[in-house]
Amino acid sequence: MQQTATEAAAAGRAKGKIEIVPVSAALGAEVRGVDLADVDAATLAKIRAAWLEHIVLLFRNQTLTDDQLADFSRHFGELDLAPPMETNQGPTHPEILVISNVKIEGKAIGTLGDGEAIWHSDMNYMEAPPTGSLLYSLEIPPSGGDTGFCNMYKALETLPADLRRRIETLSIKHDSSTNSGGYLRLGSTPVTDVRDCPGAVHPMVTTHPESGRKALFLGRRRYAYVMGLPVEESETLLDEVWAHATRPEFTWHHKWRLGDVLMWDNRCVMHRRDAFDPAARRVMHRTQIKGSKPV
Ligand code: SIN
Repeated sequence: MQQTATEAAAAGRAKGKIEIVPVSAALGAEVRGVDLADVDAATLAKIRAAWLEHIVLLFRNQTLTDDQLADFSRHFGELDLAPPMETNQGPTHPEILVISNVKIEGKAIGTLGDGEAIWHSDMNYMEAPPTGSLLYSLEIPPSGGDTGFCNMYKALETLPADLRRRIETLSIKHDSSTNSGGYLRLGSTPVTDVRDCPGAVHPMVTTHPESGRKALFLGRRRYAYVMGLPVEESETLLDEVWAHATRPEFTWHHKWRLGDVLMWDNRCVMHRRDAFDPAARRVMHRTQIKGSKPV
């Protein structure tokens, strides 16, 4: 008799068997046989090792409350509070960011709407951006809304030598005024000169504090500025580096199923999201693990 995916996952979990299956040549692995609401120390150690190796992990068929999502996330460090939403909606849980286009009585329950969210690292504009994030799917549209990831180790390692030499000592100012959906954050004013935008300054090449590997750290393209350069030169250099960094061979896009959890390492990956039908509903809950200043 054929097993459904849910039965297979439950059987794997019952046997305590954990399997790590890569999902693409660029990055990412599916972790099978784990219930994130109930993990022991040995399983956690395997998940941590797989996360460092594969950068993005996928867990299917999860059923989690907000507290269970936060509790699992906390195994990897203290959590950042959810960042304020452009919709001025207070969080329902202090550590959970609701990413959703759903409106109740005309008021959005979450952030980012239904449009494209451009390539970015989470909260890159902070002095200490998160180590990583976890995203859990509660409602998904029939099509669209896929989330893409880009391997920033590979992006750096394959950068032409002259370009790498040029950026190795440079830093970027990471704009905090506008989110990846293009919405102005509450309390921010529109940027008229990238040199004056608010946000943290980080090196373009960083060293991952756990793997020791070097990665490109670009944050997000919109309103980025390479410190010390004339604006035109900064724009040309950023365009050149971005065109290389987001080449398809460094990326993987995930098509969501209900109950999926993705966990990514914000220190060596960027992500983006496809637009989807505004008439469809998409509800995702995200946690973010506190990080340290990139160096
Ligand atoms: C995010 O940028 O964290 C959200 C990605 C998504 O909604 O798929």
